[in-house]
Parts: sequence; structure tokens; C-alpha cells
Amino acid sequence: MNIAIAADHGGYDLKEALKKHYTDLNLSDLGTYNSESVDYPDVAQKMVHAIQNKTADLGILICGTGVGISIAANRYKGIRAALIYSKEVARLAKEHNNANILVFGGRTMTVDDVIKYIDTFMQAVYEGGRHQRRLDKMDIME
Ligand code: RB5
Repeated sequence: MNIAIAADHGGYDLKEALKKHYTDLNLSDLGTYNSESVDYPDVAQKMVHAIQNKTADLGILICGTGVGISIAANRYKGIRAALIYSKEVARLAKEHNNANILVFGGRTMTVDDVIKYIDTFMQAVYEGGRHQRRLDKMDIME
């Protein structure tokens, strides 16, 4: 599985910590590459293109709170970006929502918690069925 990771300046430190932890994953870093200020809509757009053109199967996006970059990513077709804040939400984001981007807050979450959330999401399985009907309805809205 190809996983892309990207952050604005508010998520830069968390992105670097996750890269250090997940050396066993095929993780491509789409930036930003230092802590200078950048605009989170630009970061979200870069990630969205990677998901839409299938160079990444899953995205990890980080800004200060996770809110702005979630809003930006979810404007695009085919994107299901989920702001994860607990293990239960991580599991359900896969089982029910089949999220294709996980979003975290670099200024609001600890590295240890985010690792637990990512691991939980990766172990979960999409349930399909009634959940697919709901995802299909959202695709029609786009
Ligand atoms: C940047 O200062 C900050 O606004 C951004 O990282 C994010 O938290 C926005 O939602």
C-alpha cells in the first residue's frame, strides 16, 4: 500500500515524527519540508491529487488542528477525509466511512496517540453493505 503524508507548518513536527516511526511503511512525503508558514489548502490539494491519480492509496494530512485541512480536502471529488480523535473513531472511519485520508492536529494531538489511531485504522476492515449505499449517495452529490 502506498501511503502519502503531508502537513502545513502547524503539522510539520508531527509529520516528521510519524515518518521516523513508520520506517516500515511505503510513505511518500508531499511536504511541507520545513516549519515556514504555508497555506493548508495548497497542501490539501497536493494530497488530493495523489489520491485521485492513485499514486497514493491512503493519505495522512496534518495541520494545526486538523480542521482547516479537512475542510479543504473534502471539497474534492472522491475524497473522504476523516479527522480522527480517538481509537474508536479511527476504527469506524475505516469500517463505516472507508476514509481515504486520515487527518490529525499537530498542535492538538500527541505523537503516541496519533500512532495508535493510525494503527487502529490500518487493522480495521471496511464493512460495505449499507455503508456503501451511503458512500454512493455522497458520490452523487459531488
Ligand atoms: C495555521 O496557523 C493553522 O491555522 C492551520 O494549521 C490549521 O490549524 C487550520 O485549521
